[in-house]
Amino acid sequence: MRSFGGMLLYVLLLVLESICVTGVDTKDQVPLKPADEWTSRNVAIIGAGSAGSSTAYYLRRFAEISDLSLNITVFESNSYVGGRSTTVNVFGDPSYPIELGASIFVSVNHNLMNAAKELDLKVSGAGGERPKENHNMLGVWDGDRFVYLQGHSLSWWDMAKLLWRYGLAPIRTQSLMKNTVDRFLSLYTPPYFPFASLSSVVAELDLLQATAVTGAQFLENNGISGSFPNDIIQASTRVNYGQNLGLIHGLETMVCMATDGAVSIEDGNWRIFSGMIDSSRAHLSLNTTVTSIKRNNDDTLTLSYASNGGSVSDQTFDEVVIAAPFHSSNIEVSPSLEHIPDEVPYVKLYVTLFASPHKISPRRFNLSDQRDVPEMILTTLPPDLDLGSRKDGVGPAGFWSISLLRVVEAPAGGPHQLHYVYKVFSPERLTADFLASVLGVEAPKYFKNGTIGDISGNDISWFHEKTWFSYPYEYPRQTFEDIRLARNVWYTGGIESFISTMETSSLMGKNVASLLMDDWYDSLQTNRQLDRSG
Ligand SMILES: Cc1cc2nc3c(=O)[nH]c(=O)nc-3n(C[C@H](O)[C@H](O)[C@H](O)COP(=O)(O)OP(=O)(O)OC[C@H]3O[C@@H](n4cnc5c(N)ncnc54)[C@H](O)[C@@H]3O)c2cc1C
Ligand SMILES: *[C@@H]1O[C@H](CO)[C@@H](O)[C@H](O)[C@H]1NC(C)=O
Ligand SMILES: *[C@@H]1O[C@H](CO)[C@@H](O)[C@H](O)[C@H]1NC(C)=O
Ligand SMILES: *[C@@H]1O[C@H](CO)[C@@H](O)[C@H](O)[C@H]1NC(C)=O
Ligand SMILES: *[C@@H]1O[C@H](CO)[C@@H](O)[C@H](O)[C@H]1NC(C)=O
Repeated sequence: MRSFGGMLLYVLLLVLESICVTGVDTKDQVPLKPADEWTSRNVAIIGAGSAGSSTAYYLRRFAEISDLSLNITVFESNSYVGGRSTTVNVFGDPSYPIELGASIFVSVNHNLMNAAKELDLKVSGAGGERPKENHNMLGVWDGDRFVYLQGHSLSWWDMAKLLWRYGLAPIRTQSLMKNTVDRFLSLYTPPYFPFASLSSVVAELDLLQATAVTGAQFLENNGISGSFPNDIIQASTRVNYGQNLGLIHGLETMVCMATDGAVSIEDGNWRIFSGMIDSSRAHLSLNTTVTSIKRNNDDTLTLSYASNGGSVSDQTFDEVVIAAPFHSSNIEVSPSLEHIPDEVPYVKLYVTLFASPHKISPRRFNLSDQRDVPEMILTTLPPDLDLGSRKDGVGPAGFWSISLLRVVEAPAGGPHQLHYVYKVFSPERLTADFLASVLGVEAPKYFKNGTIGDISGNDISWFHEKTWFSYPYEYPRQTFEDIRLARNVWYTGGIESFISTMETSSLMGKNVASLLMDDWYDSLQTNRQLDRSG
């Protein structure tokens, strides 16, 4: 039985919080229990990405509202907070940070938008630093030609051409996207939030029609046809998820089209997550990998963890939140979990960042004028090629995207003053030949299987390569992994097969924090009843 008074107040607070951007002033709230019923709970969070930091942040906030004492510990294998949200500095210069992982979020991403505001971080329009020196902002390359080109702003003439070419498909896509996003947004508020089972709530919100079919089927079911899906929508699913419409499910396809109000945090999106951890007053253990979770007789959980110096320690907690993809976290759990998450395959993505004095060669893209080269080159498949649900779906283009990000001043002594900074997404490591052809420079002669480091420093003045297991292959599905894997063991990663973004991981972190609060209310209520009867 739960304490309905307490529960109502708590639900009301959740509603208020989702309405007021700045949240509520916790100081005026009535404590929900006499202090003597609660001794501090010890909570471990494994992973300091979006999900783990959000769990810590909201847990602390909910606990403060209810005046509960908590001791939160966050374990993170990396030497930094942010997980798949992290930056590297061009030329090692901190005034030029570039996102290496998650780069944008959008205005309907309430958790991230609110957190940025609460943490006083500067939000700026995505892509604002592009030099805009060329005519085209965006182009979609199919390996042979550009199937779509767009200038820096969409004029009425561009709109007219779009409608002429694609008919009603763009408008239908927009309204299907809005409808789907609205359903999704119900997840943020009661009665759907908090959700103990993602599978159930997805069914209740009628989102199965989108998650249970491929993007190609979902578009077809909604009357969107012609070349618009291949030319435009698939370019977006490829740059965002490295997947074609014959593989990725309909919901994630719609997420790719929800680009209104695309923004990022100046100096790096990871600042949200770092700010959340600070504000949660959690103990943060960086360079620390959790290796096992063991259940004790009193239902507490003992974690073993290793520092990257090699020393191994144990610590016991009341609750454990696994905030990382389960199978790649390599955590041994004993006794075995009641609900073991499915083994979900992740996309292996190569991200190559580099600086160069050169602009992209028009010849590489069969253009005659340098100024026609789009600053953002996305890719799709040629119209007659359907790779279905193949994971190796890149097709003749050979890469997912090449974007010109910004112009930087090269360090003194460099051959040119201003250099362009590019980001390439590809399914394989880039070869020196590929890069040389893209920049229109001589390929290095003496290296048969050269990579970026073999190209002359005069042509590539700085680079950074990274291989990510970036997001799941979003195959159509009807059920999602459990959130509560066993008593006191919680999992955020199941949301990634539904939607994989910083925002949804953050939402799941908040959801787990909320479910934990519910659990504690339940046990407090049980204690009260015992007190009364005893
Ligand atoms: C190249 C790229 C581009 C992307 N673009 C976007 C984008 O534009 N917008 C967007 O919203 N999303 C984007 N994403 C997806 C987004 O990054 C993720 O969905 C989100 O950041 C996942 O957050 P998370 O906290 O769930 O997981 P993670 O960020 O992966 O955090 C998990 C953390 O757990 C740690 N960990 C794992 N195992 C252990 C262990 N045993 N012990 C201790 N610590 C452990 C890991 O080191 C990691 O830091 C992109 C991802 C990539 C890679
Ligand atoms: C709180 O957590 C920290 C870090 O994990 C630990 O060192 C400390 O002993 C804990 N405090 C209590 C009262 O449990
Ligand atoms: C983590 O390890 C890296 C090197 O592996 C080191 O540079 C860094 O200082 C360490 N950070 C902490 C907080 O121990
Ligand atoms: C370049 O474009 C021309 C004219 O559109 C076309 O005939 C030719 O096949 C293209 N070449 C390549 C290599 O794509
Ligand atoms: C170079 O690449 C080719 C084909 O990509 C491969 O067959 C060959 O073994 C490679 N050579 C070396 C030295 O790696």
